[in-house]
Amino acid sequence: MLNVVIFGAPGSGKGTQSELIIKEYGLDHISTGDVLRGEMKAGTELGKIAKDYIEKGQLVPDDLIVSMLANVLDSKKPAAGVIFDGFPRTIPQAKALKKMLNERGTDVSIMLNLQVDEDELIQRLLERGKISGRSDDNLETIKSRLEVYHTQTAPLADYYVEEGKHVAINGMGTIEEIFGRIKEAVNNVK
Ligand code: AP5
Ligand code: MG
Repeated sequence: MLNVVIFGAPGSGKGTQSELIIKEYGLDHISTGDVLRGEMKAGTELGKIAKDYIEKGQLVPDDLIVSMLANVLDSKKPAAGVIFDGFPRTIPQAKALKKMLNERGTDVSIMLNLQVDEDELIQRLLERGKISGRSDDNLETIKSRLEVYHTQTAPLADYYVEEGKHVAINGMGTIEEIFGRIKEAVNNVK
């Protein structure tokens, strides 16, 4: 199985590149952000809890995310593999993912770490905010998402370096250029 973790700051292109990766390699896509927004829209208990965190740009607690992810994973039909977008975001989440995949006889194949300049991230998110309807695409929340990314999520890169799975990807340029870099990296582990 080809299991890809796509990693990077808010606005780094995780969702955009995931769509291209899915088409190229026939993977299932799990975006924890999309799942949480779906729960919010449906007005579930989890959605109500998540809303408070998301609107502040904070991380939803690990235990809620991990059990949500296990449910989503089990609801998927067998595929060539999975792309994890926006998960893991903390060391406990990374360890939980490893355990979940190991129990299913598989593991993370590669972690793609999209590197994008801070100014560009803010520009992309503000631009998207004009049409996305996402309650976290406003300058104040964007700033706290970036802060949370730097303090709580970015350190996770080292975990994947130690696992031998980390590949840094230059996330600046056109969507096609970036996808070209990603394909090169993924084809190396396939
Ligand atoms: P999540 O939905 O994961 O949001 P995020 O990490 O903030 O990232 P985005 O989805 O905003 O950006 P992206 O990297 O997908 O970029 P995109 O491709 O859209 O999480 C939201 C919230 O949910 C979190 O803050 C947290 O509260 C909670 N949450 C989620 N997962 C969690 C977890 N595991 N644990 C705890 N809490 C969790 O691109 C951005 C924009 O740029 C788009 O408009 C796109 O069209 C444009 N763009 C993309 N590539 C390019 C390019 N090359 N050039 C120009 N524009 C581009
Ligand atoms: Mg996204």
